[in-house]
Amino acid sequence: MTQAQKGICAEPNLHALFLTFTVVDDDPQAMRVKLVRILDLLSYFDDEYYEAMVSGVLAIGTNYWYELYPDIIPRELAPFPDIHCEDRNAPNSPGDLFILIKADRIDICHAIGVEIIQLLKPHVDLYEEVRGFRYLDGRDLTGFVDGAENPRGMKKFDVAIVGDDDPDFTGGSYLHIQRYQHNMQKWQLLPLAKQQHIIGRGKTDNTLLDGTDLASDSHTARTQLATPNKNTSAMLTQNMPYGDMSTQGLFFVSCANSPQPFIKLLQSRVIADEDGNYDKLLDFTTAETGGAFFAPSVTFIKQQAKD
Ligand code: HEM
Repeated sequence: MTQAQKGICAEPNLHALFLTFTVVDDDPQAMRVKLVRILDLLSYFDDEYYEAMVSGVLAIGTNYWYELYPDIIPRELAPFPDIHCEDRNAPNSPGDLFILIKADRIDICHAIGVEIIQLLKPHVDLYEEVRGFRYLDGRDLTGFVDGAENPRGMKKFDVAIVGDDDPDFTGGSYLHIQRYQHNMQKWQLLPLAKQQHIIGRGKTDNTLLDGTDLASDSHTARTQLATPNKNTSAMLTQNMPYGDMSTQGLFFVSCANSPQPFIKLLQSRVIADEDGNYDKLLDFTTAETGGAFFAPSVTFIKQQAKD
């Protein structure tokens, strides 16, 4: 049985560390072996501090994939869809490796991060380090519950994990990341009704606005438009708020059995339709980074290190 990486379908945690690296040397075999050691490190911390609910995801950037595993390519591997429309941007940024560390203890996230950096040091530069935290019972910093429409139970695996249709990559997942920076001052000036209008949900109880209350340019309407089966989200998100007293935002991470759901959703949000509708939330938050990755199964990473 192929084993998917534990962090892909893990429940939300209290803390996360999002690490994005660029690879600076040309030694793919050394990297293949180091990736196994990172998986071992995550398992060790998971066993040793089981109460912290440790998990992780380690994913390979689409460009670097061709260097790391040149002979075997996931069927749908695709670059990040660098999309721009008017003043709305979804830029691509450097990223050969992306590592998500999740736990209910910030000290454990930190300890794992430090050991990963030690392991990878000669081969990589750390492009970006972002600390995510759970905010007010699973809310984004806009104050709205985030992740409510994520699939649950076994549905998570159907949505997030590649099945038998790409046998070499069963157990893998297509990951997209974007770091959004919110303009909190501008957002907080909006009256509650306007905020709810933009998200398409009630702020306190998270109820979906419907009928004429659901604006065509709300986040919910724009994302539902690009979701083929209205009852099931086509991707699983592992988003978390981040920030300090001067900068705040959302680190977005989606996991799916194909890159297509994310690409379609992003287009629907950024590109205005014939009536000029786009996702109004983008007037209050800006994507500053973006990357497309593939997180192979644990089985795949271990097998490839032996060759
Ligand atoms: C700053 C960035 C973002 C914020 C603050 C945000 C916030 C939210 C919130 C509050 C909800 C409603 C609760 C829920 O169902 O999870 C939601 C739903 C959703 N979001 Fe986002 N989101 C962001 C970016 C994105 C991106 C980049 C995508 C995809 C490309 C996306 C896709 C979705 C989808 C598919 C839903 C479910 C819609 C539904 O059926 O109700 N979001 N988001």
